[in-house]
Amino acid sequence: MKNTSLSRRSFFLKAAGLAGAAALLKSRDLFAVPPPVDTSRAAPTPAAALPDTAKPQAPEKPLTFLTDKQAKKISDPGDYEVFKINDKKILFARISATELVAMSAVCTHEGCTVKYKPKEGDVKCWCHGSTYDLKGHVVKGPAKQDLTPYTVQIKDGKIGIAM
Ligand code: FES
Repeated sequence: MKNTSLSRRSFFLKAAGLAGAAALLKSRDLFAVPPPVDTSRAAPTPAAALPDTAKPQAPEKPLTFLTDKQAKKISDPGDYEVFKINDKKILFARISATELVAMSAVCTHEGCTVKYKPKEGDVKCWCHGSTYDLKGHVVKGPAKQDLTPYTVQIKDGKIGIAM
């Protein structure tokens, strides 16, 4: 009988000792201080990860509107014209009843004026044969640089170009 009570006492003492050790280990974790972080070597946060409100916004470019006479010249699909707007030669091409594109009309090779080819769906320079897509990207040289594209908007029934 005495042996049993001793063994019980021994058991409880051991159990209490283990519980105390576990509590000690746990308290060490609670008071542990994380190692310092070296922020000087941290990679910058990519802009894509930022919320929209944190991204830098490009200022909206003002619209320059075509006259009614100019707009009439590019009203049907396949129509195109080069208009001088703000001292720049701009090619307007009516792609469809609802689509209108605009880009610089000055070939980036040697400066000839480009033309829209509705059947081919591209823009060509007749001087040396450079060809561009409808976003102004070079498709075929000798030109190496793209034509500058412009955003076209319809506002209050008028055709505007952002520049
Ligand atoms: S000027 Fe246009 S291809 Fe040479």
